[in-house]
Amino acid sequence: MKETAIQLNIRLREEKPEDILAFLYNSYPGKVTFSSSMGAEDQVITHMLAGIDKNPSIFTLDTGRLFYETYDLIEKTNKRYGIRVRIMFPDREKVEQMVNTKGVNLFYHSVENRKLCCHIRKIEPLRRALKGNKIWITGLRREQSPTRKDISLAQWDDANGIIKVNPLLEWTEDQVWDYINTHNVPYNPLHDKGYPSLGCKPCTRAVMPGENIRDGRWWWERPETKECGLHQSPKKK
Ligand code: ADX
Ligand code: SF4
Repeated sequence: MKETAIQLNIRLREEKPEDILAFLYNSYPGKVTFSSSMGAEDQVITHMLAGIDKNPSIFTLDTGRLFYETYDLIEKTNKRYGIRVRIMFPDREKVEQMVNTKGVNLFYHSVENRKLCCHIRKIEPLRRALKGNKIWITGLRREQSPTRKDISLAQWDDANGIIKVNPLLEWTEDQVWDYINTHNVPYNPLHDKGYPSLGCKPCTRAVMPGENIRDGRWWWERPETKECGLHQSPKKK
């Protein structure tokens, strides 16, 4: 499958996102799934997928700590496209054990705690959601962060044993918003209030003018640690 990822990367890297998605849907029927955080990029991809498939496989990792506006957007998106975004929840026992031993807001106490929380609330449910699929679509863009500058359009994800495809990899933020405005795509109202990148509520703040897109995510940590582990060790393939 690593070889297939390399071939897909060569075959698709010059194509438009809509064409990439359509190609994958035709080539891997029933084996393509999309992880949506309901962020601006993800809403663009959902709009594209809804034009390709009546019932596309889309899931969101509900950590239990998302913004209210994100939950509203899940409902609004389902209604607009006649789809049902699958909700993935973390393991109850693990969350209970974690918060009862380390505190409900453990993530502020250390990077180690923060990574544990992300692991239990996001990474483990992600593994379950990806099971049985061959292609994992994400809304990653290269310019979002220094940790994302080396990723490929299609790459083998060793941690999950799946081919990961990032169709909006080369898009700029302006392209995302042009698409949203042109196609009247529903989006999170927090984006208009200084939140370019949205994650869990306790770990996301608004950014100031001039700050980078992801400066409001885990803002108390250094930039090098600011990945939750969903997107690990990107290697050029
Ligand atoms: S994160 O790793 O820092 O949280 P970011 O918010 O930039 O990631 O989103 C990048 C991509 O990761 C999204 O386009 C989406 O594919 C995936 N992703 C992030 N958070 C979630 C989530 N809660 N549910 C599903 N997918 C997610
Ligand atoms: Fe936990 Fe924060 Fe990670 Fe959400 S972003 S899973 S609240 S540490």
